[in-house]
Amino acid sequence: MQFFTTLLLAAASFAAAAPTEGASENAAPKLEARAYSGDMTYYTAGLGACGQTNNNNDAIVALPSHFFTAANPNKDPQCNRTIRITYKGKSKTAKVVDKCAGCAGNSIDVTPSVFTALVGGLSAGRVQVTWDFV
Ligand SMILES: *[C@@H]1O[C@H](CO)[C@@H](O)[C@H](O)[C@H]1NC(C)=O
Repeated sequence: MQFFTTLLLAAASFAAAAPTEGASENAAPKLEARAYSGDMTYYTAGLGACGQTNNNNDAIVALPSHFFTAANPNKDPQCNRTIRITYKGKSKTAKVVDKCAGCAGNSIDVTPSVFTALVGGLSAGRVQVTWDFV
């Protein structure tokens, strides 16, 4: 009996300490909590899964296939969203226009111009980045 009483008291004090809905002062920044990380590679832009044609100078990105849920990729809710990519303290935004079948996990594929803007050149080929939706 003593044991259960202690448990109940513990549960009650935990509930009392839990933040109420809307009290976000102590909540972690959303960007931090939702950031993705993975490899960034580059590809030659063209007609993407979202139905738009882009070129290598556009600030666009292909997300891994698992982000795409619509039956018609042209109408996928991910299309036209903006993400912010961060590499070694540098950030750049890019628009989602394609899906990347070869991107494992949360890895992303960008145009050579985005890759160069962040990394300084193309020779690295593949670097680790973090990114999030803006
Ligand atoms: C994305 O933007 C293009 C160009 O504005 C538009 O034609 C297309 O319908 C948009 N796609 C989605 C899924 O919102």
